[in-house]
Amino acid sequence: MDWGKQNRWAQITKNGRCFFLAMDHGYFLGPTRRLEKPGEMVTPLLPYVDALFVTRGVLRASIDPNVKMPIILRVSGGSSVIGGDLSNETVTTSIDEVIRLNAAAVGLSVFVGSDYEFQTLSNLANLINACEPYGIPTMAVTAVGKELEKRDARYLALSCRIAAELGATAVKTYWCEDFHKVAENCPVPVVIAGGPKCDTILEVYEFVHDGMERGAVGVNLGRNVWQDEHPVAAARGLQALIHENLTPAQANDLYQTIKNEGGATA
Ligand code: 5RP
Repeated sequence: MDWGKQNRWAQITKNGRCFFLAMDHGYFLGPTRRLEKPGEMVTPLLPYVDALFVTRGVLRASIDPNVKMPIILRVSGGSSVIGGDLSNETVTTSIDEVIRLNAAAVGLSVFVGSDYEFQTLSNLANLINACEPYGIPTMAVTAVGKELEKRDARYLALSCRIAAELGATAVKTYWCEDFHKVAENCPVPVVIAGGPKCDTILEVYEFVHDGMERGAVGVNLGRNVWQDEHPVAAARGLQALIHENLTPAQANDLYQTIKNEGGATA
């Protein structure tokens, strides 16, 4: 990897592991519960995460430019949850904007097996071609749209491998049973996405731990952090699980301690 790209990747990881906080959901979901005021939501979580995954609109409107937090810019979009097909995406943000906003990396969705497979894979290839001359890492998001049943090892391994073959620096995908089949077949780092909110934070810690034991380098999680009743406790537990090797039970104990000490602000 070229020095600049390696340096940017190092800014968003620690010892090869990562906790990216996803807050890009409005780009297709519109107003999202607990993400109504992104700046207020994210401020107390900043000490625990390694980078923010965000669109340029929310970045400019809601994030203090003085904050020392690397940004992964969400650069695909063009569809909504009430539109015809979520997979009909384009690249929304130019390379000039990516550089102007001092992004450490960019992220873009691909929808393998959808009607827009060719379009979204072309988006990824074109984005990589635009980013590589500037040493900007690219994270391919293996999205499934509304077809959540696609989240099995066979499909996710296929999507991740194709994204890696096109040149993505890293791939974001969902956790699934037999996650090692996804990670082992992907020659670049794999990051776990969250999906809709789980019933308990322990479930989240368990799937993240299992995914990392099976080869993931970290997470790009959103709703399971900031839709939790105690987002600070949820984030601190994840940080400890990812970077301090706590078990899910230990991370859950830490969550409960912070929750009990901090009440509503934890
Ligand atoms: C939306 C995304 C999100 O960044 C990703 O799904 C992670 O967020 P969550 O944990 O809430 O699913 O790419 O398309």
